[in-house]
Amino acid sequence: MQVKRFGVSLEENLLKKLDDLVQRHQFPNRSQAIRYLINNTIVEDKWKGNEDVAGAIVLVYDHHKRDLQNRSTDLQHDYHDLILSVQHVHLDHHNCLETIAVKGPANQLRNLADKLIAIKGIKHGQLVMSTP
Ligand code: NI
Repeated sequence: MQVKRFGVSLEENLLKKLDDLVQRHQFPNRSQAIRYLINNTIVEDKWKGNEDVAGAIVLVYDHHKRDLQNRSTDLQHDYHDLILSVQHVHLDHHNCLETIAVKGPANQLRNLADKLIAIKGIKHGQLVMSTP
């Protein structure tokens, strides 16, 4: 893709914040930081506007709690239209890490994520919001 150059005027304190961001995220330059900010804002707007988006739900839980797995499987069947794939990793004797790739209307993905994360016994859960 062709890259175009344009000038940006910024107040000194805002430029300082941009450079801090470049350092913190270890971006190679300011352009990469601005790309990151633009794309983040676009993803955020799509999720807010209930557009079709993609993401991942990450869950960590103790597989010895049998009810939890039944409940999670029931929910995943209820929302099967949204689920692309599920990866299950046995982290150690107790803990499982599940990564559920999802795609569909943002609000429905949020609903599914909220319900999964709220299951009693889930140790950690997070929805990673991205976009196709
Ligand atoms: Ni497991």
